[in-house]
Amino acid sequence: MSEQPLRIAVLLSGTGRTLSNLIERTAQNGLAIDIRLVIASKLGIRGLTIAENHGIPTATIQRRDYESVAAFSDALTESLPLDEVDVVVMAGFLQLYRLPEQLRGRVINIHPSLLPLFGGQGFYGHHVHRAVIESGVRVSGCTVHFVDNEYDTGPIIAQRTCDVHPSDTADTLAARVFEVECDLLPTVLAWLQRGWVRLDAGKPVFDPRTAASE
Ligand code: GRF
Repeated sequence: MSEQPLRIAVLLSGTGRTLSNLIERTAQNGLAIDIRLVIASKLGIRGLTIAENHGIPTATIQRRDYESVAAFSDALTESLPLDEVDVVVMAGFLQLYRLPEQLRGRVINIHPSLLPLFGGQGFYGHHVHRAVIESGVRVSGCTVHFVDNEYDTGPIIAQRTCDVHPSDTADTLAARVFEVECDLLPTVLAWLQRGWVRLDAGKPVFDPRTAASE
């Protein structure tokens, strides 16, 4: 088991609640990660302020400054110090990032539904939870997956469920899902730090110890 903290870069587009949770889990629960860099896809968002308040270096790369997804993705890749970062975490990152081959298996995303349901372009934030409620399913949850070159389609690492209540609104369901997110992402990061999960020929490979610590 590696004693070294997992060095991560966080990509975000919004409030940075997920970033806050990671900072908190590191300080209070001994999560062995070192957040080296936060990259935002918009200027002035709260996620950047949270990073700055914790002395984490930041960068902003806006999609609208680039002509194409490919050019935006290249700029993102160039801004990642790949020799100083083990894993890139998309934490509320709303842009499509087409990753280079060398980053396959090193980029993960957290999504607020049980993929492959309620994922893909346009399924973010309350759009997800409204669709879940309208569909009538009684269970929702969250998914952490390796990122491929599309929205929300990469190999699934782990999922957590929660109930959908008949009285739920998008807000109440979002809050319940976010609670399970706050456990699942640190769990997966701890697996990555220990080398308990990796991507091999496009499929996640798990150490049996992951089963006991889910
Ligand atoms: C979470 O619901 C996560 O699943 C999704 O974005 C939300 C987190 O964004 N990818 P933030 O941390 O509140 O900015």
